[in-house]
Amino acid sequence: MTHPARIIPIASFALALVVACGGSEETASPAATAESPSTSAQAPAAAASEPAAETDSGVSVDVAKGEQIYATYCGSCHGAGGAGDGPAAAALDPQPAKHTDGEYMNALTNEHLFKVIEKGGPAVGKSALMAPWGGTLSDAQIWDVVAFVRSLAVPPYEGSVP
Ligand code: HEC
Repeated sequence: MTHPARIIPIASFALALVVACGGSEETASPAATAESPSTSAQAPAAAASEPAAETDSGVSVDVAKGEQIYATYCGSCHGAGGAGDGPAAAALDPQPAKHTDGEYMNALTNEHLFKVIEKGGPAVGKSALMAPWGGTLSDAQIWDVVAFVRSLAVPPYEGSVP
């Protein structure tokens, strides 16, 4: 209970600062938004803080190893840089996810990414063209590749892995 209550006033304060620095006549409507942040401000804050809090498992990740794993097992479809443009992508329907697409990827939790990599697309309601890698990759390797996938996002992923 105390955590969301702390986050909201800070978010409102930050928003108020931005508004104040704007300094134009337009302050009226953004200020009104800042006074009722319960829906707009709360959702991103919760999305960013939940995964880190819930998966504080002491796992340490190695992004460089994740990059190698990605190049070996994922780039053929997702593209070496994660833009969804690997050599095999053209033949696939649906298309491989664009891991560079931060708008989409940053909304997914670490657990979701781990699960879809370990168990394949159907485990999260996605296409079976996204195969399960749990038989090939260890849990530690999956976390490494999750960390690399996170590093591709534009705009950047702000949370931690795991
Ligand atoms: C055979 C091609 C192929 C390979 C190889 C592949 N993927 Fe995918 N992947 C896909 C496709 C196709 C989708 C889109 C599934 C959908 O939208 O239903 C996808 C989706 C994803 C998603 C997004 C899931 C979501 O919820 O939107 C992630 C994350 C992902 N892949 C990670 C990986 C990683 C990491 C590897 C390597 C270990 C990998 N993929 C290897 C085809 C592939």
